[in-house]
Amino acid sequence: MASVNRPRRVAVVGAGPSGLFAVQSLLATAPFAVEVDVFDRLPTPFGLLRYGVAPDHDSIKGIADVLARVFDSERVRFLGLVELGRDVTAAELVASYDAVVYAAGASEDRRMEIPGETLPGSRSAREFVAWYSGHPDASPQSLHRVTAAAIAGVGNVAIDVARILLKTADQLAPTDMPAPVLAELAGADVRDVWVIGRRGPEHASFTTPELRELVTTDGVAVDVAGADLTAIQDADLDRRTRANVVALRDAAARRVADPRARLHFLFWHRPARIVGAGRVEHLILERTVAAGPGAVAGTGEAATLDVQLVLRAIGYRGIPLPGVPFDAATGRIPNLAGRVCEPDGTLRPAEYAVGWIKRGPIGVIGTNKADAAETVAHLVADLAQAAERPLADLAATLAERGFAPSTLADWERIDAAERERGEAGGRARAKIDAWHELLDLVRLGRAGGPPSVADRR
Ligand SMILES: Cc1cc2nc3c(=O)[nH]c(=O)nc-3n(C[C@H](O)[C@H](O)[C@H](O)COP(=O)(O)OP(=O)(O)OC[C@H]3O[C@@H](n4cnc5c(N)ncnc54)[C@H](O)[C@@H]3O)c2cc1C
Ligand SMILES: NC(=O)c1ccc[n+]([C@@H]2O[C@H](COP(=O)([O-])OP(=O)(O)OC[C@H]3O[C@@H](n4cnc5c(N)ncnc54)[C@H](OP(=O)(O)O)[C@@H]3O)[C@@H](O)[C@H]2O)c1
Repeated sequence: MASVNRPRRVAVVGAGPSGLFAVQSLLATAPFAVEVDVFDRLPTPFGLLRYGVAPDHDSIKGIADVLARVFDSERVRFLGLVELGRDVTAAELVASYDAVVYAAGASEDRRMEIPGETLPGSRSAREFVAWYSGHPDASPQSLHRVTAAAIAGVGNVAIDVARILLKTADQLAPTDMPAPVLAELAGADVRDVWVIGRRGPEHASFTTPELRELVTTDGVAVDVAGADLTAIQDADLDRRTRANVVALRDAAARRVADPRARLHFLFWHRPARIVGAGRVEHLILERTVAAGPGAVAGTGEAATLDVQLVLRAIGYRGIPLPGVPFDAATGRIPNLAGRVCEPDGTLRPAEYAVGWIKRGPIGVIGTNKADAAETVAHLVADLAQAAERPLADLAATLAERGFAPSTLADWERIDAAERERGEAGGRARAKIDAWHELLDLVRLGRAGGPPSVADRR
């Protein structure tokens, strides 16, 4: 092991599950002293655990309490409101830390690339999720005059947004959604929700507990079209897909008396065009057939859905971090088991990747734990061999630029304010979704202190 007279300094960019699992793994496994700075562009940690996991799945949100324990270590700091590419460069991070771990997730979405996709009323499930989760960058979403909605894609995100659209105001009331979101959903009158798969039920990527929860939503009748569920041979399927097909058969066979809404699964169809006078009125679909493993071909046969809202839930997408290699085709940082490399495979010493920006937008929260452990094992092995190099003082550079990052105490103040706001309305938490309110809470901790990055916004 190289001899070093100070703790090794590690920067983690992104305080989502993968970044915090990386810190957890580093603290548990490094055979040398480490100091870790966790940066996030938001003043709030937890990434999609806070701004993606559905508000009515609060038991999963409890994972945040476990992840937050990394901040109990005095060797770990949270530096919020610092965006790589805006407030700090990758080169500055590499000059200031022995190792930099990129954990920035996948913050964009994929496009269907069909005519009419940009009409008002057509948007991504990502934007819809960000809105109901109270992300401060989200735009308000209107459900005014939406009685029928179509969701493209049959993954778990499609299931989440279908469930939120189909639940009643009473069912959503105990969640942590911001008050204006609850009001919009409570005032909505969505009677029909279409969930559209370009392949068959046996190819859907949603998981069975999530599917069963959706199809048993109170007062909602379910039908399945486009595929003959009885013709699917169970023996050909793996356990998960067989369980999905069985759940769909059960749902289609269940009779719901006097349903208040209907959920329609439509398989073997793909969106072809969205049309309407100034906003979404119809979604034109094309029937598809299998064309080799994972692929479909259009048949030219069209079907029309009369809908006022189209949500594409066809996957998230990573975006480039300035100064960091990026593979635009996959939306990932090129890497070899977590070690960042140039597109030609040349390693970039001291730079690492974890989570969705490392392997693409697939996998549940737990998947990021093993993924982070793989990266951290390489990081620890590399640092153990690396000679000590002089490091720049990033805090001093930021102070010269006139701001200090937000802190864990600032997040705890936001957390307390959200709990207080929730209690006033009889729920555990009510999210604060406005940038100005979040920044006001950060500023409260700055009285007489250094100027805050909050003041630069
Ligand atoms: C809608 C939705 C619902 C989900 N529900 C579940 C569920 O119920 N259960 C489950 O197990 N999994 C769920 N998942 C999957 C889970 O959320 C992901 O596996 C996980 O969040 C990926 O972690 P990550 O850290 O890679 O990315 P993220 O969670 O996206 O975290 C990335 C962090 O990086 C920050 N960041 C981004 N760019 C920068 C920058 N330039 N500078 C500084 N910081 C930056 C972001 O602000 C964010 O905090 C869901 C995913 C989605 C999309
Ligand atoms: N409760 C939970 O545990 C939970 C909740 C939400 C998300 N997550 C996880 O988060 C990850 C991301 O979920 P996701 O739903 O975004 O992704 P996903 O599981 O990859 O699903 C994407 C869906 O979009 C379809 N699709 C892709 N491109 C399309 C196109 N051009 N036209 C029509 N359909 C298209 C895919 O079909 P093909 O298969 O044919 O490509 C697939 O059905 C997953 O791992 C998921 O399990 C978990």
